[in-house]
Amino acid sequence: MRNYKTLNVGRSVIALTMACVLMACAPNEKKQVTEPTLRAGIGQDFFIGVAVNSDQMNGTDSVGAALIAKQFNSIVPENCMKSESIHPEENRYDWTDADAYVDFGTKHHMFVIGHCLIWHSQLASWFCVDDKGNNVSPKVLKQRMKKHITTIMTRYKGRVNGWDVVNEALLDNGAYRPSKFYEILGAEFIPYAFKCAHEADPDAELYYNDYSMHIPAKQQGALRIVKSIKEYGTPITGIGMQSHCNMDGPSVTEVEEAIKTLSSTGCSLMVTEFDLSAIPFPKDMSGAGIEQAGQYSEIYNPYPTALPDSVAQQWETRMKGYFDVYRQHKDVIKRVTVWGLTDGASWRNDWPVAGRTDYATLFDRTYKAKTFTQTLMK
Ligand code: XIL
Repeated sequence: MRNYKTLNVGRSVIALTMACVLMACAPNEKKQVTEPTLRAGIGQDFFIGVAVNSDQMNGTDSVGAALIAKQFNSIVPENCMKSESIHPEENRYDWTDADAYVDFGTKHHMFVIGHCLIWHSQLASWFCVDDKGNNVSPKVLKQRMKKHITTIMTRYKGRVNGWDVVNEALLDNGAYRPSKFYEILGAEFIPYAFKCAHEADPDAELYYNDYSMHIPAKQQGALRIVKSIKEYGTPITGIGMQSHCNMDGPSVTEVEEAIKTLSSTGCSLMVTEFDLSAIPFPKDMSGAGIEQAGQYSEIYNPYPTALPDSVAQQWETRMKGYFDVYRQHKDVIKRVTVWGLTDGASWRNDWPVAGRTDYATLFDRTYKAKTFTQTLMK
């Protein structure tokens, strides 16, 4: 004991002397104060990302854009790369917002995500049908998918680092969703999309992304998808767990089980669309299907002016539970992306019931970091 103490005292004296010498050497140098940020805090465990909207990218919301650049080291586009936006007609692409998005990420040296290449929602109306509205043949759909994926990925090659190649191909019971893609091509549409993506940019990370991944049957569905992609002879990098969370679920235990099961594939994992709604989720709904639209009632909008302290406290406790698990599994979790910068910009105000006031993100309506958010900056 004694020896340790002597050693420590000796070390302290040396440290103090060195500090004095340094101060004496640089008397006029100002002390460098580094402001805490998410990217300097939790962003060292894994990428910390945010979904950005077009206003933040086109200069309309410059305060939001500056906050994104300062706090986050990864971004994903909330809407502008979905097929209905970027490829509205078979022979017309609209690059305006997507170009601004990718330029922003490149300028700020971020890990840039593309979202999403093949998805049944926000799907361009021409994609799976002919001009009479009938399903196209398997051959034509494959040609269209290849062209769509190749054209977009080639444009952003080397600048978009990872892509959600296929989004939401599963039902919550783990079966394949009966989307147009599935109807026409069967389950092959998934590995086929990954093959096209890998050929377009062999260096890009490629992900399968879905919601409600805490449901064991859905995890089994995801495992089946990963296996089918590998058997097709083409790579998959990671699995995205969207993670649109509510005050009554999923539990931290369910999330942890999902992480263990999904990482058994050898894929990396990412939390791709995290938000935690602070207001009631209608009992007759589940998942995160964007088509769900509940009837507005005041029961579903209990805090239109401010979140009571007691609820804010519960919200923080849940947030801590989720983020503690993510941090504990940082060996497999490579990114946590929040879906929306501020409470004001969050889609949760309008989904699954429109016209509400929710509190689901890391920054409040005045762009201020919440108390919990500040703990992630350490
Ligand atoms: C949401 C956007 O946030 C909304 O602005 C839009 O109106 C609907 O889509 N799963 C996804 C995301 O993969 O792309 C969805 O984003 C939310 C659910």
